[in-house]
Amino acid sequence: MLKLAVCVSGGGTNLQAIIDAIDNGAVSNAKIEVVISNNPNAYALERAAKHGIPAVCVSPKEFESRERFNQAFMEKLDAYGVDLVVLAGFLVVVPEQIIEKYRSRIINIHPSLIPSFCGKGYYGLKVHEGVLARGVKVTGATVHFVDEGTDTGPIILQKAVEVLEGDTPEILQKRVMEQAEWIILPQAIHLIANGKVSVEDGQVRIRA
Ligand code: GAR
Repeated sequence: MLKLAVCVSGGGTNLQAIIDAIDNGAVSNAKIEVVISNNPNAYALERAAKHGIPAVCVSPKEFESRERFNQAFMEKLDAYGVDLVVLAGFLVVVPEQIIEKYRSRIINIHPSLIPSFCGKGYYGLKVHEGVLARGVKVTGATVHFVDEGTDTGPIILQKAVEVLEGDTPEILQKRVMEQAEWIILPQAIHLIANGKVSVEDGQVRIRA
């Protein structure tokens, strides 16, 4: 059974998609051990509590230095014996020592087709604002392993979504979530939990 930590900062709709997919069997061999938020007011924490999942807040603001926060964050993951860290709308940069220790065991959902509209400054609604400002006709979402760069790790799954006339960033965000994020994030977890995913020469291979 793959033990998951799901890291969140806000509404937690991707967390909800994972909870639902585990409940309905679309994701097998995986269990959410803990939900970790950097934001004490994240609605995601309530979603976890409603499902009886341990939910904790580890906020950089509570620590006198970044190093102490990093250490506390690492201790939480270690304490829950986590096999896979899922960044589901987690807006904190993951410390390098955690990336090192959990190499190829941290995944992130990003709301665009990487390498477009990603990297520093592209998160949440800003991604969709960028998409609309550029006038691209197709966007989507990407699940990737996390490395030391911002949105640079090996790509696991991607799904395209149409941009439509009259879209606002909010409308587009909702479509990308519904048609891509909430599908490919649970799917990636299912594939990893069932031993289908490997990384070879920096590229992801998925076995049938
Ligand atoms: C999601 O759209 C996720 O892809 C995005 O934040 C949102 C969180 O929503 N993540 C990033 O932009 C990371 N660069 P949620 O809390 O409802 O899952």
